[in-house]
Amino acid sequence: MKLAAIASCFAVAAAALPTVKVAPRASISKADGTKFNIDGVTKYYAGTNSYWIPFLTSDNDVDVIMGHLKTSGHKILRIWGFNDVKTIPGSGTVYFQSFSGSTATINTGANGLQRLDAVVKAAEKHGIKLIINFVNNWTDYGGMAAYFSACGVSNNAGWYQSTKCQTMYQAYIKAVISRYRTSAAVFAWELANEPRCNGCATSVLTNWIRKTSDYIRSLDSDHMITAGDEGFGLAGDTSYPYGYTEGFDWATNLALPNISFGTFHLYVESWGVGSNKTFGQSWVAAHAAICKKLTKPCLFEEYGVTNAAEHCPVESAWQSASLALKDSGMAGDLFWQLGDTIQSTGQLTHNDGHTIYYGSSDWKCLVDQHVKNIG
Ligand SMILES: *[C@@H]1O[C@H](CO)[C@@H](O)[C@H](O)[C@H]1NC(C)=O
Ligand SMILES: *[C@@H]1O[C@H](CO)[C@@H](O)[C@H](O)[C@H]1NC(C)=O
Ligand SMILES: *[C@@H]1O[C@H](CO)[C@@H](O)[C@H](O)[C@H]1NC(C)=O
Repeated sequence: MKLAAIASCFAVAAAALPTVKVAPRASISKADGTKFNIDGVTKYYAGTNSYWIPFLTSDNDVDVIMGHLKTSGHKILRIWGFNDVKTIPGSGTVYFQSFSGSTATINTGANGLQRLDAVVKAAEKHGIKLIINFVNNWTDYGGMAAYFSACGVSNNAGWYQSTKCQTMYQAYIKAVISRYRTSAAVFAWELANEPRCNGCATSVLTNWIRKTSDYIRSLDSDHMITAGDEGFGLAGDTSYPYGYTEGFDWATNLALPNISFGTFHLYVESWGVGSNKTFGQSWVAAHAAICKKLTKPCLFEEYGVTNAAEHCPVESAWQSASLALKDSGMAGDLFWQLGDTIQSTGQLTHNDGHTIYYGSSDWKCLVDQHVKNIG
């Protein structure tokens, strides 16, 4: 999802550096045909997205939210593993990497990657599996654009193809992976949030995905790797999302040897596509068919509508369409996005119109009922 930038001000907790437990290899999540195997169990899985959880500054707040996911029966949580800035914020604000002149500096301090450590530690405690994403296509929390002047490019097409940008990006990937290389809380490493290369030959993104997934595999032989894209570029109808204008060729990229599973998103409103239930049902089926053919799992990784009255009826129809294909390519789904109350401040987390708050009637519909239907 592309978000408006959110100014957040939290006090930094003076916490000890969390230690990550070394997991036995058998407890590392993996693909099993077109399904996921988590902690030894192969079945369809549900979960959600929280871009903001690594930017909270209280360990207890993170822990409480992870506990809510666990008791609700959620298993997979997708988070932003990046937070790139061009101007260093005050010490109370979290950021992970800064750019100045022609250099990138990774922030491993208390308002840096130690906040990601706290998320991984809480996920380990509650048995939640994390998809950790390395960079944004969009400018929220910096994104590729934060690198531009430091590595000498002016757009994301240049970013994918520049050796200097890719060297910086890979150094960041290495810094994150080295912290959690042996953790069972890592579900998958994710190349980017919604990588696009508008108007580019599809070979640009295919080459970048191949190169990056091979690089990640050279650092970590165990955890799964995925692209984090929206699912564009595949056979279907003539509407915008099925087209190749954003430079994505979905089946070709999923077939790359070090890509473990496919991702796709669904935003009928911003994509300007028709009827909100039926477009989604065929969108899910079109991706599932490719996953089945390639024997790799399909993750319906983000979906949402902004009209609150449609959250339950429309999104539950999409969940049902996905679950119905659990033996035909679909491995799981994660709605966009998680909402909860931050214990230390009493404030609700960001509501972008898509947010489903813990304990709400939408939560009963899209989490409690869905988890029950999955069984
Ligand atoms: C993200 O992708 C779209 C499509 O290529 C592009 O318009 C946009 O500028 C990208 N973001 C950045 C920061 O380049
Ligand atoms: C996957 O990545 C590893 C590590 O970089 C590389 O050695 C291997 O050739 C890649 N796999 C394939 C089948 O290309
Ligand atoms: C979704 O469906 C509802 C009810 O049929 C309709 O009012 C709304 O405009 C639709 N939204 C989109 C984005 O198509």
